Amino acid sequence: MNEKIIIFDTTLRDGEQCPGASLNTQEKLEIARSLEKLNVDVIEAGFPISSPGDFEGVETIAKNIHNPTIAALSRAVEQDIKCAWDAIKLAKKPRIHIFIATSPIHMKLKLEKTPQEVLEQAVFAVKMAKGFCPDVEFSAEDASRSEPEFLYQIITETIKAGANVINIPDTVGYIQPEEFGWLLKGIRENVSNIDQVTMSVHCHNDLGLAVANSLESIKFGARQIECTINGIGERAGNASLEEIVMAIHTRKDFYNKNTNIETRYIYPTSRLVSRLTNFAVQPNKAIVGKNAFAHEAGIHQAGVLKDASTYEIMKPQTIGLEGNQLVLGKHSGRNAFRKRLIELGYEPNNEKLNKLFEQFKQLADKKKDIYNEDLIALISETLIADIADIYELKYFHISTGNSIMPTATVRLLKEGKIYEDAACGDGPVEAVFNAIDRITGMKVKLTDYYIKAVTRGKDAQGEAIVEIKNNGCTYVGKGISTDTLEASTKAYIKAINRMLSQSEDHKGVE
Ligand code: KIV
Ligand code: ZN
Repeated sequence: MNEKIIIFDTTLRDGEQCPGASLNTQEKLEIARSLEKLNVDVIEAGFPISSPGDFEGVETIAKNIHNPTIAALSRAVEQDIKCAWDAIKLAKKPRIHIFIATSPIHMKLKLEKTPQEVLEQAVFAVKMAKGFCPDVEFSAEDASRSEPEFLYQIITETIKAGANVINIPDTVGYIQPEEFGWLLKGIRENVSNIDQVTMSVHCHNDLGLAVANSLESIKFGARQIECTINGIGERAGNASLEEIVMAIHTRKDFYNKNTNIETRYIYPTSRLVSRLTNFAVQPNKAIVGKNAFAHEAGIHQAGVLKDASTYEIMKPQTIGLEGNQLVLGKHSGRNAFRKRLIELGYEPNNEKLNKLFEQFKQLADKKKDIYNEDLIALISETLIADIADIYELKYFHISTGNSIMPTATVRLLKEGKIYEDAACGDGPVEAVFNAIDRITGMKVKLTDYYIKAVTRGKDAQGEAIVEIKNNGCTYVGKGISTDTLEASTKAYIKAINRMLSQSEDHKGVE
């Protein structure tokens, strides 16, 4: 019988840790809902002590997501453990995930502790966490650069202290697959109580080996793999969930294992995470890249036309990619629209459905063909990035050309009052941003701006992404429209609204 590999998703913790990926609570909850549909076994929802925003995100997910286990990360210290427990105590299946570094380099230079002190601290922390929560995971950070003998000792002792999952991270993405196998084999042979727990791995991708290392670990008894959607995470990222799951699924003959993942939600979840984090997926990315199922060479196309199995080892439908085909049009009804959203992994309540349907109808008036991508863009733009509309766009007019100075007039609504102003700029986008600055009275620094088509075709929607900086903090806003100047204007206002509504959200811990 095929044994199960537990999929531990850390998109919302390690994934969210990468620069620029900061998500608000609403966005985290939507990703968590998508992960629940995908049927991951564990969602690591965040690191509650790291910021009030992280605490709120973990707590909200713990209260609202019921099928997967909800894990909260914690250093091996009392205040973190209490805070982690506070955030997840209402979860149906809570888990506290304790970590402490075990490599000589980390213990000496980062923690400034002796191995004995680290061992005692780890045991103390696991015991304390166990007092709160029946499910405790212990991670030996930088395990792949740790002395094997010390690793055996700390694992043995933390199991005795109550850990029921032991995680072996390749924190800096250093180890090679064969070496990782030796390390895990050593643990199995030298830790006498290892069979009492689930052995887990957590691999980073600095040398591009995160997935290979994770898959190799299965041979040596790992039964939980920690990974992220699209492989996002610290530096070069974490092992990619979709690659691991599809390798196990496609090569059942080799691994003899299975996962609980509902593979048809892989693609929608990947798109949602990409949109909300603003991290584009590289076109040649395995499984979810734009070209992953595209056949360019004539000889390949001819083969696929005769029989897809000539060049396709997986069916695009298995991961929920149905060729980006036309899904709905102007005459589609509310029920068909709702059904399609559910197929994409998004289940709106009535109020949200009404709002979305209204937006969909407006879009269908401007755009003939509506694709899955358009719907995912609508979902993230209209509902998920639900930042308070402190300023709301009421009207804009731009006059531009190759022989006149671009000028923009903008009208915004704030707390029931209309504000209007006009400005010039080197281009139409600058003119409109300048007019908005005159209304808000703020001079924010524009640090990034780009625009891209959501789908193909002349009537494709444009998505504008604007990044602004103020007082050392970065805020991102997105806008979509069939009119690229409108998309840019909306994105700039969203970024300003995000800035105004975000408080102390992203302070980190050392
Ligand atoms: O990479 C790492 O070691 C981690 C631990 C906290 C599990 O993310
Ligand atoms: Zn990590």
